[in-house]
Amino acid sequence: MTHQIELSGVNKYYGAYHALRDIDLKIRKGSFVALVGPSGCGKSTLLRSLAGLESISTGDLLIAGERMNGVPPRKRDLAMVFQSYALYPHMTVEENLTYSLRIRGVKKAEAKKAAEDVAATTGLSNLLHRYPRELSGGQRQRVAMSRAIIRHPKAFLFDEPLSNLDAALRVHMRKEIRSLHDRLGATSVYVTHDQIEAMTMADHVVVMRQGVIEQQGAPLELYDRPVNKFVAGFIGSPAMNFIPATVGADGRSLLLDLGSPQSIRLERPAPSNLQLVVGLRPEHLRLVPEAHAQIRLPVGVVESTGSMTYITSASTPEINVVVADRQTLRAGETMSLSFDPAHLHLFDRDSERRVEAFA
Ligand SMILES: Nc1ncnc2c1ncn2[C@@H]1O[C@H](COP(=O)(O)OP(=O)(O)O)[C@@H](O)[C@H]1O
Ligand SMILES: [Mg+2]
Repeated sequence: MTHQIELSGVNKYYGAYHALRDIDLKIRKGSFVALVGPSGCGKSTLLRSLAGLESISTGDLLIAGERMNGVPPRKRDLAMVFQSYALYPHMTVEENLTYSLRIRGVKKAEAKKAAEDVAATTGLSNLLHRYPRELSGGQRQRVAMSRAIIRHPKAFLFDEPLSNLDAALRVHMRKEIRSLHDRLGATSVYVTHDQIEAMTMADHVVVMRQGVIEQQGAPLELYDRPVNKFVAGFIGSPAMNFIPATVGADGRSLLLDLGSPQSIRLERPAPSNLQLVVGLRPEHLRLVPEAHAQIRLPVGVVESTGSMTYITSASTPEINVVVADRQTLRAGETMSLSFDPAHLHLFDRDSERRVEAFA
């Protein structure tokens, strides 16, 4: 298998600050990889290390099989697409596109032809003579991408390119970037703090926290089998509910600490008195007739968007429930909830790691 980019044992220090910790990451040619995590977790540092804008402290970086540690950015053949489009305001779209070719000595006619070819791919053919100020946000984004495409880079690197756009345009540009990636057969590494963006755009999602890769895999793998409580809470919206719980003396029940103690049955026996945290996603809880209740909770807030109803319990911790039909529940009433045991996630209370054995 050919990997377009390969990082092994990479660490990065800013002085004494350990910004990247033992990063191992293989990016297949043609794949779309998202780096996702909270602000400050090291996403940009990792991307900039690929580009050569930061030097790595230890470990190895290979691009198309060649060791790139210490190789200057312009010799890595990667294209960075920034959040601020960084277009030259006094140049037309065509001049913006051809600039990088012209400074490398490409003949005028040849550069013009290359700009026209790229513009045809990205839908800019009719806009080549406009100035950036005469373009919409989405069109400017396309020029920024086109300027990267024209150099036929080994990979595209994106650092939160959509965070300045309004919500509707962001959704549109997500699809546009992904479809451009597919049409070009490109390799893309995409940084975002938005897990929805990562889940919807990428083939492979890398979740980071404090310089560490917590988990990586296909989007639905992360959703279905988060390896720890952090990934479980980070992936999915609204976020997973967490309830402290203790395995009963019989080893077959789980006592949930929801203010009022409640107990659910375990499918398989577990060590008695084990301290756990139960994870249940809001969309995996169902409202059922009282006789079928696994959990009973007082209703706190009921909100409807028309298509969905969001219910928050009045318990501690608060439990969120999302259902796709309308509800007549009111605050103060009791709701009866059930769930499929396959949707129950268990985490060790101390290590916060996923517990598999008896789930
Ligand atoms: N040039 C720098 N010097 C010192 N610390 C830095 C530098 N750049 C980033 N950092 C620190 O490294 C951590 C990761 O930063 P960054 O990669 O920008 O995070 P992210 O992109 O995930 O928000 C942060 O704590 C940040 O303050
Ligand atoms: Mg960043």
